[in-house]
Amino acid sequence: MAEVKLDFLGDLRRTHTCGELRANDTANASVLMGWVHRRRDLGGVIFIHLRDRYGITQLVFDESKNPAAHKRAQELSTEFVIAAEGVVELRSADTVNPAIATGDVEVAVSKLWILNESRTPPFPMEDNVDVKEDIRLKYRYVDLRRPHMQRNIIMRSNISFAVRQALYTQGFLEIETPFLTRSTPEGARDYLVPSRVQPGNFYALPQSPQIFKQLLMVSGYERYFQIVRCFRDEDLRADRQPEFTQIDLEMSFPQEDQIFEVIEPLIWNVCEAAGARVERKIPRMSYEQAMRSYGSDKPDLRIPPFHCVEDLFAGTNLAAEGLPLVAVHVPNVGQLSRKERDEIKAFGQERGLRVFDDIKRLERDYPEAIAKVRERTGAEHNDLLMLATWAGEPKGALPDHTVLQACGQLRLYIAQRYNERHELLDPEVFKFLWVVDFPMFEWDADERRWNAAHHPFTSVHDEDLDKLTADPAHCRAKSYDLVLNGVELGSGSIRIHRRDVQTKVFAALGFSEEEARRRFGFLLEALEYGAPPHGGIALGLDRLVMLLAGEQSIRDVIPFPKTAKGTDLMCEAPSTVPDRQLRELGIKLSVPQ
Ligand code: AMO
Repeated sequence: MAEVKLDFLGDLRRTHTCGELRANDTANASVLMGWVHRRRDLGGVIFIHLRDRYGITQLVFDESKNPAAHKRAQELSTEFVIAAEGVVELRSADTVNPAIATGDVEVAVSKLWILNESRTPPFPMEDNVDVKEDIRLKYRYVDLRRPHMQRNIIMRSNISFAVRQALYTQGFLEIETPFLTRSTPEGARDYLVPSRVQPGNFYALPQSPQIFKQLLMVSGYERYFQIVRCFRDEDLRADRQPEFTQIDLEMSFPQEDQIFEVIEPLIWNVCEAAGARVERKIPRMSYEQAMRSYGSDKPDLRIPPFHCVEDLFAGTNLAAEGLPLVAVHVPNVGQLSRKERDEIKAFGQERGLRVFDDIKRLERDYPEAIAKVRERTGAEHNDLLMLATWAGEPKGALPDHTVLQACGQLRLYIAQRYNERHELLDPEVFKFLWVVDFPMFEWDADERRWNAAHHPFTSVHDEDLDKLTADPAHCRAKSYDLVLNGVELGSGSIRIHRRDVQTKVFAALGFSEEEARRRFGFLLEALEYGAPPHGGIALGLDRLVMLLAGEQSIRDVIPFPKTAKGTDLMCEAPSTVPDRQLRELGIKLSVPQ
């Protein structure tokens, strides 16, 4: 870096931010501070766009009026940090800049302080410059200066505030729970932290505060919440990070309805903070209905549902006995080429489907049935309408929802690729949905055992309690998900508060009494000390902000995220550690460092 003499801040204070000055500030004195965003040197006059978190203001250094300040301004480069004192002046009509909020004025600088210099940044501070993500992450502190990242991070802060506001108003207490703890029951792998003072022993970082929030209910706090970091060692995707943030809450004596009544105003408050318009009431749908109409437990309601139409084709060779025949309907697709239709068929085939894509031919062969399909689906002329069923023999071995799930994927694929002008998947339309009545258990075919569909502390429906061991496949859970535009935003349940019921559920899950006691003994014991009925939910804050900010990846709403390999490219974590540290922890590595 070139040697530049730097000034001290001393007791200099800024009078305005860079987003603040307007025409009615003209003739006032002003001190601004910020970063040199852009510099234009016209010889006798230098223009600087000065940037801070609030906006951009133009500074003018005129040699004829202030030679000393002009001379200093010649030393400036982009991203230098400066303070400037001057008088606010109205710009002439032909130099007004409508692209910035302060564009009617500029500051004629009489004094300049250079507070710090900057190396040439690795990329410009503009949104429209395409920068590779690994470079952005390596220089994250620079990337975070770019306008869309600033907007996202500020939106995130506003959303957190809106969450707190909504929950404090509803009588929730914000209570912290430990990070150094033992394994929690969310089903991913744990991040472990070795103990130095008890060599050979490990803490686990919490996958969620699930057990602690239940214990807080046993302790009588009644309404708890926390905006809390959770840690899960799992394969990463665009909407998953190894550490992420939950809006986590729990309440005593609730029905499911009461949980929804708490969350809905929270969502309105959050959407208002993010400038998103949403309907006031969030609709509800059972898991079964979601699977039957969307082939997904997180339906994207921006695309219409599909319809099972096997009843209309009974006895034809389209509908095989015992298999669904699904009418997939996607609005505004227009005419597709042969190649495009083949691509759709191939997508379906890869998922085991047989796709009847030629609706004109079907119309010729089955005019009455297709007329009824059109009536049922509401498909119009410009819409895509196809039928799909399972390609193979039914054989009875097919899990219930396999065909519907494949059709759900096909529907999404068509909407993403072929919906004209992409108005269906408009990121500014927000369709929230409660999915309720999930099954209690999921069959794990590899391990040949039942797993908890939510987690093992979830209550079963009162009327299904007797089926726990006899008929686990048909037990419904008191659990619910909040879905937004096809993304699972949150999950929760009414919990088991009775020790005897918890024992039955552990038995259905194949945990021996001893294993249950070893893993969750303190919770089981707590249930014996007057545990009230309780329930709660956790929403993924990162996913919520991602969707409201219109981003595709949660990395764009997390200040310092990890890559898909779990690496922090900026501070180069994870990293090796010195032998001494390993020795202190009593750890010997079996992999070379
Ligand atoms: P669950 O495991 O469903 O429930 O998590 C709740 C919500 O947290 C978000 N989420 C994630 N976000 C980013 N990266 C991840 N790796 C990740 N994993 C989960 C999702 C999800 O819906 N203790 C229960 C909640 C309860 O029962 O109250 C729990 O953690 O948005």
